[in-house]
Amino acid sequence: MVSRFTNLIDLNDMPTEWWNEVVALGAKIADDPQKYAHECDGKIMGTLFYEPSTRTQMSFQTAMLKLGGTIIGFDNPATSSVAKGENLKDTTKIVSNYADIMVMRHPSEGSAKAAALTADCPIINAGDGGHLHPTQTLTDLLTLSKEIGRLDNLTIGLCGDLKNGRTVHSLCKALSCYTGNKFILISTPELRLPFYVKDILTAAGCEFTEVNTIEETIAKLDVLYMTRIQAERFNSPEEYEAQKDVYCLDKAKMKKGKKDLCVLHPLPRVDEIAIEVDDDPRALYFKQAKYGMYVRMALILTILKNEYPTVLLSGKVHKDICCRNPKCITQTEKYLPRSFRGSGDTLECEYCDERLLRKH
Ligand code: NCD
Repeated sequence: MVSRFTNLIDLNDMPTEWWNEVVALGAKIADDPQKYAHECDGKIMGTLFYEPSTRTQMSFQTAMLKLGGTIIGFDNPATSSVAKGENLKDTTKIVSNYADIMVMRHPSEGSAKAAALTADCPIINAGDGGHLHPTQTLTDLLTLSKEIGRLDNLTIGLCGDLKNGRTVHSLCKALSCYTGNKFILISTPELRLPFYVKDILTAAGCEFTEVNTIEETIAKLDVLYMTRIQAERFNSPEEYEAQKDVYCLDKAKMKKGKKDLCVLHPLPRVDEIAIEVDDDPRALYFKQAKYGMYVRMALILTILKNEYPTVLLSGKVHKDICCRNPKCITQTEKYLPRSFRGSGDTLECEYCDERLLRKH
């Protein structure tokens, strides 16, 4: 199923040139934002945030306001008709008739794709559960291209909750599309990167290694991407307690890093970066958050041009099969076509990318 609109559900739905252009436009806007002040006069952006957010929501809102447009939406579903039991389809369908472009964050994996199937305006995925966060990746790419000057031949360390961190999944997928990037995945054995992302790295020919500590690897890195342990995605408080506070980047560890190491974090930080690191010129996370606003201005302009209708579903509907991921949007929105990629015994859910073995 191909959408009438250019949606951003997953960066990898688009060719690399598409997102390179968004990043390049973001860089131009950062140099002269005033030049774009009336590009969206008369346009309305809906922001539907079913999950907490500071940077993503506000940078999108500021981006639209800086382009001359206006905003509607909610940041707490409890104050909308969602609290009365309205399903995702109806809420997004209605708002898509009020807005020209819609930004959505939702706790279920695959929710942005589900909304795009029936919405009457383009949808931007601002985070679908622990799955993907493509606009954070655009932010990260703009930061790297501005601060390092390239997106290839980098040794990138990603540290923290690699299992549940959607920013990590999207960033790995995107950086695997540039030549010569190597990944060092720093996590506890319990919080390793999901297999489907590792398979993408392997298929792209990227080297990656899995390690347990920052100390053993920081000296090799061009980029250190820190993330928080995602408390809200754990199955029990005990499991979270066992993982929290494992990582803390402090001055002593920074001493072992290269002079031009680039330390990024999508934020919010909990305690995985000591405050004392903030004054180190290699700590770029606050700058990164500002780049996020410019790249989102670029993204809004690009999406509204509507030059790249997105393929939403390309697999086959299997009425008799359910995705086994309890966090998949198909678990709660029962009307969705159960569409899977692949053939033979292995099927992959087209909403959340979960793999399941077909039972005969
Ligand atoms: C991230 C997210 O929501 O996934 N935050 C963000 O958008 N900048 C990271 C996080 O919550 O840990």
